[in-house]
Amino acid sequence: MKKVITFGTFDVFHVGHINILERAAELGEYLIVGVSSDALNFSKKKRYPIYNQSDRMKIISSLKFVNEVFVEESLELKLDYIKKYNADVLVMGDDWAGRFDWVKPACEVIYLPRTPSISTTEIIEIVKMT
Ligand code: CTP
Repeated sequence: MKKVITFGTFDVFHVGHINILERAAELGEYLIVGVSSDALNFSKKKRYPIYNQSDRMKIISSLKFVNEVFVEESLELKLDYIKKYNADVLVMGDDWAGRFDWVKPACEVIYLPRTPSISTTEIIEIVKMT
């Protein structure tokens, strides 16, 4: 069984998130999603996500094409997670193109094009302005 793994914050869930998860699932038979922790987001962006990690995980778990969800505690542990979950393919959005090629000895790496014109950051900005 081909296992696919992907990672993200998936805050303020939107159609770009659905599209990448749906396409990632089509690349194998089992989709595992690492949802980045609240602490990891704070350390990266100096703000907490709008939805906390347990709510973000609940949303992702409820999708019909997602088989397993876990909390991603550190960006540097990608290879450990790939091994732990026996993933055959790592999928990332092409905003990360080339950045994870170093895990290639362990698994295939595929960067999928982002859905144009939508992001969590942009949604937050629009809501703040209105
Ligand atoms: N993604 C995508 N298309 C978009 C937005 C996100 O394919 N329009 C993908 C990202 O490439 C990533 C996954 O969805 O693989 C999770 O991305 P995340 O960073 O959580 O979402 P963003 O909307 O990009 O959030 P932010 O604006 O906070 O960076």
